[in-house]
Amino acid sequence: MTEKVWGGRFREETDSLVNRFNASIGFDRRLYVQDIKGSMAHCKMLARQGIISDDEASKILAALGEINREIERGDLLISDDYEDIHGLVEKTLVGKTGSLGEKLHTGRSRNDQVALDVRLYVRDVIHHITALIRETRITLVKIAEDNLDLIMPGYTHLQRAQPVLLSHHLLAYNAMLKRDGERFNDSLKRVNILPLGSAALAGSTFNLDREMVADELGFDGISENSMDAVSDRDFVLEFLFNASVLMMHLSRLSEELILWSSQEFSFISISDAFCTGSSIMPQKKNPDLPELIRGKTGRVYGHLISLLTVMKGLPLTYNKDMQEDKEGLFDSADTVEICLEVMTKLIGEISFNRERLRAAAEKGFLVATDLADYLVVKGMTFREAHEIVGRIVLYALDKGKELNEISLDEMRGFARKIDQDVYEWLDTEMSVKRKKIPGGTGHDAVRKSIKKEKEDLRI
Ligand code: ARG
Repeated sequence: MTEKVWGGRFREETDSLVNRFNASIGFDRRLYVQDIKGSMAHCKMLARQGIISDDEASKILAALGEINREIERGDLLISDDYEDIHGLVEKTLVGKTGSLGEKLHTGRSRNDQVALDVRLYVRDVIHHITALIRETRITLVKIAEDNLDLIMPGYTHLQRAQPVLLSHHLLAYNAMLKRDGERFNDSLKRVNILPLGSAALAGSTFNLDREMVADELGFDGISENSMDAVSDRDFVLEFLFNASVLMMHLSRLSEELILWSSQEFSFISISDAFCTGSSIMPQKKNPDLPELIRGKTGRVYGHLISLLTVMKGLPLTYNKDMQEDKEGLFDSADTVEICLEVMTKLIGEISFNRERLRAAAEKGFLVATDLADYLVVKGMTFREAHEIVGRIVLYALDKGKELNEISLDEMRGFARKIDQDVYEWLDTEMSVKRKKIPGGTGHDAVRKSIKKEKEDLRI
């Protein structure tokens, strides 16, 4: 039989299938920390307002503290006999304090209680995730700093485009992760609002001090509208969106690591400890970890779409559909956390194949744009220069040569303005160096950007 926090109105026992289907204890058990914390704040406020006595409050607080410790130690098992975590905490409290514990729910409903617990949970998770993002960024910036001399091809359409610093490429991911962290932090001003005091939907008859509870729990403010407060889950959706964007970034980085470690690219190798083998092909060393990060991105997107869909047709205020917010939220938080941890370690386990990277940057006319820029400096319009360089590339393709292997005479056949100094423009290293512009791949620009990021990360 399920222990319920309702029942008076019912003549018959709930069907066991209904218990099984209706219960959320199987997954909301992890909210016990937030539930007890919220209950403690509510209890203190009830005493301060004279709704319960100080003596009653201290007994309830002591019992709640005990429940917390017992769950933590594993002495109190979160049993499936309860409908949800709120029921479990309340029933256990009543078990410890008798009818006194029954006073705790004064002026409160599970509707504002669950909204509170989820807000506290999302807030905690955001703090954890932003700390993990910071770790990943620190690792990226360190690798960028240690490999400032490494040149590789930059790509568009997965076709070699222009030479870039490997550091510049890695710092692009740092920039994405930085925005991800900012997005999570920005959302806190909407997450960190106290819904308690909204009760079931209409607010409470009791003279509750909501500001006090908000202070006690570290909220920035109280919700403005009780009906909104118990039925709003857009803070969860925002979290899921932010998690999805973050996963998309991790997935793109994963994709590059997978490509780069292929024999076709051979730009990197990942240490044995971070790869796996095949059950049949003895020679295989597979990049399972980045593949899994890429794969797990799908489930986080799924949770976002799923909750958007759950919410779209709900009339105000609370509807049981909303219980479906939790599993996706928890799974997204767990997924994002483990993926960030894995990514941080994984990128620390990469060694770069300097020769391959450099050789790839030297082949495929990556300095063609530099040659066009050179012609512009010599007085041509860019469109004219573009056309001529296109023709030189065709010529070079026919001859099986790179641009810097074409003689000055051959080149002058295409444009008289070309002089000996053109070869400085056809040098891969120089091509990178010339991108001095802030935000560009030039060594100086990248060095500056590393300095800035280190300041931002306080390392
Ligand atoms: N387990 C419920 C949930 O997660 C708690 C709120 C129940 N409220 C109610 N009116 N049935 O949404």
